[in-house]
Amino acid sequence: MTTVGLLHPGEMGAAVGGCLVSAGHTVLWDPSGRSRATTGRALAAELSGTGFDSLVSESEVIFSICPPHAALDVARQVAETGYSGLYVDANAISVATAQRVAAVITAGGADYVDGGIIGPPPDAAGHTRLYLSGPRAKEVAALPRRSALEARIADGPAFAASAVKMAYAAWTKGTSALLLACRTLARAEGVERVLLAEWGLSQRALPEKSQQAASAAASKGWRWVAEMEEIAASMTAAGLPAGFHEAAAEIYDRVSRNGTPPSDSAWNFDAVIAHICSTPT
Ligand SMILES: NC(=O)c1ccc[n+]([C@@H]2O[C@H](COP(=O)([O-])OP(=O)(O)OC[C@H]3O[C@@H](n4cnc5c(N)ncnc54)[C@H](OP(=O)(O)O)[C@@H]3O)[C@@H](O)[C@H]2O)c1
Repeated sequence: MTTVGLLHPGEMGAAVGGCLVSAGHTVLWDPSGRSRATTGRALAAELSGTGFDSLVSESEVIFSICPPHAALDVARQVAETGYSGLYVDANAISVATAQRVAAVITAGGADYVDGGIIGPPPDAAGHTRLYLSGPRAKEVAALPRRSALEARIADGPAFAASAVKMAYAAWTKGTSALLLACRTLARAEGVERVLLAEWGLSQRALPEKSQQAASAAASKGWRWVAEMEEIAASMTAAGLPAGFHEAAAEIYDRVSRNGTPPSDSAWNFDAVIAHICSTPT
């Protein structure tokens, strides 16, 4: 059994932590500075609260599962303690950002394993995969055994797990943003009803998909801005056009920046479209 540190128990982190607990490990988290929502999730997942210093000194493995824009800062906080265990970054970040995280972590004295999570927060087997790569990936892959989280080794280079996550989310979240842009264009031009009628004839999945895209953008768009920027940077690094995902970042930024976005429980499609329509200030 392994003592694992988890920074931090968001929707995904808490569910991953719960899988590790169900596999028999002790999972530590640090409540300081975190919201009531995070505390509630950590308690529900039966994670053990402790201070940051003891989390670092007691954990053989630390998972970083946080908003992508915070991945480097979280790594720096851990490295500054002189942590010498195994550090897993499982965030949606580009290979270049993952390399920076790895450099910070290894300079501090720890080993790095690259990760990328695909699927919803795991609550039943078969839906969520944790891709892992790097020399010690197999040690991490053994941790969630017989839980709802499936660990897979991503064959390829050391940062293959992050690369897979970027390529995967480029399609899923990129096309959701494109769909929202199309629907907003139709509304701006006064032809939304005509477009919906045409979709009903020739693209039957799109009305519902655009509703789902708006709902997801309302609750998670703030976090996806950085993820789209990481994907745009990945495209540039591979000699590909970055514009698709720069635009997707702007769509998600507009949803979350123009006033308070609708909450998860009371999201409103028209409000999301209105947020996208209005030019950011
Ligand atoms: N949710 C999904 O379906 C999903 C799917 C695949 C991959 N992922 C990946 O999982 C990671 C986390 O996603 P999530 O859904 O768990 O996000 P989340 O629900 O928004 O939770 C983020 C967690 O990080 C904490 N946090 C917020 N700002 C922070 C900062 N500046 N520095 C350090 N910690 C901060 C939050 O704490 P407080 O709110 O308490 O401050 C919360 O505990 C992301 O990299 C994402 O790409 C998520």
